[in-house]
Amino acid sequence: KTSGNIIRCRAAVAWTTNAPLSIEEVEVDPPKAGEVRVKIIASGICGTDNHTLEGKMKTPFPVILGHEGAGVVESIGPGVTTVKPGDKVLMFPLPECRECFYCLYPKGNFCEKENILSPTGLMLDGTSRFTCRGKKIYNIMGTSTFTEYTVVHEIAVAKIEAAAPMDTVCIMSCAVPTGFGAVFNTAQVTPGSSCVVFGLGGIGSAIVMACKASGACRIIGVDINEEKFPRARALGVTDCLNPNKLMKPVHEVVKEMTGVGVDFAFEAIGLIETMVAALKSCNRSYGVCVIMGVAPTGSQLSFDPLVLLPGRTLKSSVLGGYKTRDDIPKLVTDYVQKKINIDPLITHRLPFPKINEGFRLLREGKCIRCVLSM
Ligand code: APR
Ligand code: ZN
Repeated sequence: KTSGNIIRCRAAVAWTTNAPLSIEEVEVDPPKAGEVRVKIIASGICGTDNHTLEGKMKTPFPVILGHEGAGVVESIGPGVTTVKPGDKVLMFPLPECRECFYCLYPKGNFCEKENILSPTGLMLDGTSRFTCRGKKIYNIMGTSTFTEYTVVHEIAVAKIEAAAPMDTVCIMSCAVPTGFGAVFNTAQVTPGSSCVVFGLGGIGSAIVMACKASGACRIIGVDINEEKFPRARALGVTDCLNPNKLMKPVHEVVKEMTGVGVDFAFEAIGLIETMVAALKSCNRSYGVCVIMGVAPTGSQLSFDPLVLLPGRTLKSSVLGGYKTRDDIPKLVTDYVQKKINIDPLITHRLPFPKINEGFRLLREGKCIRCVLSM
């Protein structure tokens, strides 16, 4: 019986930035009120995990990273009603409390319960559920999935259907809704439109798939790693650009290719310069630019406001604007019923102990998504 007891299990601990993760035995406390302890089955490695490890995103260390997980509920704390032991679940980096202003309002999804913009690395009661070698270990965005067991808030976990393949739908915790929602909810890409996608990694590839599904007739893909191009073309990119090989700024090339600039531009890298390039790539009268990349902590986005004046729109969203607990399980069902396909996003699979190899694949640009199985 594990319920009510501390669980000892393996986890990948990031003791400091810019060091390999260390597979350690950790103690995972039982869930407190409103919390759920989950046995992780599979977890994707996201660009944000790598940014955090590289110290570009401020969050407390030592930390257990990972926020793209699928698992099975092991036990629940007092008051938990929406999931029970044995349920297959996804856990999300953005909660949905169903009580705050934003959760009750039909539009938007940015729940007030957890401030993911300035992470504490702790549960909402200000304490941690992880210990390793006698030291407190922090969590990431209330999730932490690079561990055999984790504790999450009930407001950040949702039951998914039993038929869902966990080692695939885990990427529906972040990459898939982020990319799909950027297109379907935030930009609302229209049939026959032109699009540009900056960054052809996990998020960018999901954006490309959704642009194609929306009927975009031209999808320009921008990346400095040309190894990303063949797969991007297979997903729907019609033209590939490597900014390092162009004679002029990439937004000027996009403008020439399309006459006036694209209808919809997406940034899925997380750099200020590519955010500005994406904005300038969309047509000046009604172009919409959606920034999905997360810039380093403390950076400032600056551009001449005259870029916006003629009518451009600059937008962003977290998790694609989906209300996590309400909407994402429906995406899982769509996948199980073969209404959407996310398989091409997963290019590599590794057993959990090889997690550092997964990070290396991501850093070297060899993978779109690498999924770890526990
Ligand atoms: N210009 C063009 N492409 C670039 C540049 C650049 N200056 N720098 C990096 N890239 C490309 C990489 O070659 C890679 O293909 O951007 C892509 C980023 O993809 P991933 O590393 O797979 O990251 P992903 O998980 O897609 O996340 C992208 O979204 O959620 C945020 O924090 C995340 O900011 C990150 C972004
Ligand atoms: Zn809320």
